[in-house]
Amino acid sequence: MDFEKLAREEVLKVRPYIPGKPVEELQRERGLSEIIKLASNENPRGPAPAVIEVLERDIRALNRYPDDSAFYLYRALAKHLQVSERRILVGNGSVEILYFLADIFVKPGENLVYATPSFVIYDIVATLSLGEGRPVPCDGDFRHDLDAMLARVDDRTKLVFVCNPNNPTGTYVTEAELRRFLDAVPPEVLVVVDEAYYEYVDAPDYPQTLEWLERYPNLVVLRTFSKIHSLAGLRIGYSISHPELVGLLQRVRPPFNVNSLSQAAALASLGETERVRRIAAENRLGITFLSERLATLGCRVLPSQTNFVMVFLPIDAAAAYDKLLDRGVIVRPMPSFGTDINAVRISVGLEEENQRAVAALEELLGRKTVS
Ligand SMILES: Cc1ncc(COP(=O)(O)O)c(C=O)c1O
Repeated sequence: MDFEKLAREEVLKVRPYIPGKPVEELQRERGLSEIIKLASNENPRGPAPAVIEVLERDIRALNRYPDDSAFYLYRALAKHLQVSERRILVGNGSVEILYFLADIFVKPGENLVYATPSFVIYDIVATLSLGEGRPVPCDGDFRHDLDAMLARVDDRTKLVFVCNPNNPTGTYVTEAELRRFLDAVPPEVLVVVDEAYYEYVDAPDYPQTLEWLERYPNLVVLRTFSKIHSLAGLRIGYSISHPELVGLLQRVRPPFNVNSLSQAAALASLGETERVRRIAAENRLGITFLSERLATLGCRVLPSQTNFVMVFLPIDAAAAYDKLLDRGVIVRPMPSFGTDINAVRISVGLEEENQRAVAALEELLGRKTVS
């Protein structure tokens, strides 16, 4: 049976997302005793003890469907974010909401504008949609080129994705820049600002977009529990937007899309504000360590507002990725972002993991960093 012939042509155009192999499998394949994974921008600290406690409690009730209204989580999120509950939608990861938005809004002949290199899922969502993806190269500093993005917006643009701070570059757009962009974009174009790394940011001119929701009804903000909250495995994220848009999102989301353990864990994790602050501070030390050490190795490291750094290598990045694997260090090579940039993205790990990553790169590059 020729399934591909039966499928929508958009589906055949998608370049599937390539996740890393399970760590255990790599360990076996390469005969390694230990592996450190710095490839998916995960939080190296596990979930908070309070989260584990509620998960252990709630696991006994898995015979029941989740609360489809996620009542307590919505209430807590609204309080935490200081926005009306009617503006929130919780999804099976924030990524799920990107798919919903494309489903709801993009008709044949319309288009979606986003930066490149940026989060790979935007390209998948655009390709799978009925419209056309319009990736716009970042500027020379690997920041979003908002003017160039604006130039690609036309009367058939439905969605713009702004990844802030950006994955994989770690760069960000400032409050003034984003504001200027929102003022210039036609009001019927939805601007989705993906703030997956929000809690890691410490730049004083980073935009506080939730304060702009009244002014820009076309603004959609995405946040997630996958990063600083350490819940990537549970798949839970959310959007904050105009309440009427939430009504449409509610229509397309599958019932029970957010499982009961995710809801309970997210709720418990929201209360961990002090822990979140601590992890952000610890992360900043990791960013500084990696940036300084790798710079002394002769690598260009982009300034990062996230929990990862993009590192340009003086040797072939794909080969470096493979050699790092042989040394038990998994990073993310840039070609997986659909670019030919000779760089790797390294997530911040625990202190000793960062040290091991630097030591492995020193070995590879045949140089020693100055400590
Ligand atoms: C920019 C960006 N958005 C969203 C996500 C994923 O979010 P979620 O796990 O909530 O789907 C990631 C994860 O890498 C990301 O880098």
